[in-house]
Amino acid sequence: MRMYDIIRKKRDGLALTPQEINHFVAGYADGTIPDYQASALAMAIFLRGMDARETANLTMEMAVSGETVDLSSIPGIKVDKHSTGGVGDKTTLAVVPLVASLGVPVPKMSGRGLGHTGGTLDKLESIPGLSVQIDRKRFLQIARSVGCAVVGQTANLVPADKKLYALRDVTATVDSIPLIASSIMSKKIAAGADAILLDVKCGSGAFMKTRERAIELAEAMVAIGEEVGRHTVALITDMDQPLGLAVGNSLEVMEACDVLKGTAPEDIAETCIELAANMLVLAERGPLDECRRLVRGQIANGRGLAKLREMVQAQGGDPLAVDDYTRFAQAPVVHEVRAVSSGYVVAMDAEGVGVASATLGAGREKIEDAIDPSAGIVLAAKKGACVERGDLLGTLYTSDKKSLYDAETQLRHAYVLGPEPPEPTPHFLARVDAAGVEDLRTA
Ligand code: URA
Repeated sequence: MRMYDIIRKKRDGLALTPQEINHFVAGYADGTIPDYQASALAMAIFLRGMDARETANLTMEMAVSGETVDLSSIPGIKVDKHSTGGVGDKTTLAVVPLVASLGVPVPKMSGRGLGHTGGTLDKLESIPGLSVQIDRKRFLQIARSVGCAVVGQTANLVPADKKLYALRDVTATVDSIPLIASSIMSKKIAAGADAILLDVKCGSGAFMKTRERAIELAEAMVAIGEEVGRHTVALITDMDQPLGLAVGNSLEVMEACDVLKGTAPEDIAETCIELAANMLVLAERGPLDECRRLVRGQIANGRGLAKLREMVQAQGGDPLAVDDYTRFAQAPVVHEVRAVSSGYVVAMDAEGVGVASATLGAGREKIEDAIDPSAGIVLAAKKGACVERGDLLGTLYTSDKKSLYDAETQLRHAYVLGPEPPEPTPHFLARVDAAGVEDLRTA
């Protein structure tokens, strides 16, 4: 079999056989297929697409390109969660303990943030003492005894995706539904859970800018999951503005704790409840309404928060930080940004807020860059708010005074003020499962 013929076949719009996909993935992972041929194939896939069977084959070949995680020593239906990433998305930190507090195990591997979105691992590491570099044996132990653990991916999980993703990043081939879907799902499948809940973000701060594209991606991922025997549900959720008010690592952990205390802003609280309830449905805990009720109960009775304390302690972190936020590193520089004109906030550039937070030190450009755990922004106004000149728009936190000017400018540019209030936007845009797409905009 020749890579040349595989590239030509896809260039001409034909479907690749499982053997051809295997030849490509195995050869690229072991270095026998060079970058220039892999780039040509990635571009051919970008332009010509892949059908559902090809996408599932590509996913499975990548999933088994390295180690896979065996979770069979943990009893029960293990449910994983993945978000396609957004600004202020701290849902994992609240959803994982909520679901685990109801007896559904959530052993989870997460990634770091690059660019304007923070990663769950970076957020968790802002809890004093907490480690995400935990070996496999201890990870399984914690998942068994506590019911949840959130750790870093091992280096050898899905090496084919690692290589291909880095190549796509520099060949303008990231934004392809079959390539994104197979990349995400290969990691979820290798991580071993029985069922997968996907949070596909949609809007100005997300990969997918429109509802239609987000649904297309969700359908591709649900089809892969179902094809390989992992029940998968996707929620399409709004990312046209940051989620909640906090953006930045420790600030987001505190807001996630607020979700578990029932004191968080409504958008982040409702998103966490809906995600957790859908995970419970996947764990066969009953119909969605009943699962929502269970989740709300765990917030009201404090058991979700207690589970987070337990997980933090098991991973070496300070469990008291969950209650006493002064135990987090405190940013030495705090700066208020106030409105220079009046009006309604009619739109927000979520990505712009993420960039401002990264400028303050909360994000990184290269994977080896250090981040400032205390840096970030607490927003004071979101879409629909009526602001008067002089009102607070947001508070900036940083250790680097020099970053304030740029971050303030970026935050100001992220706000669009107008004379009339905007139409309210729904948090939930659609739900996709094996049965099809449900429109949630009017639900
Ligand atoms: N996230 C991934 O893991 N892979 C992609 O291709 C895009 C987003």
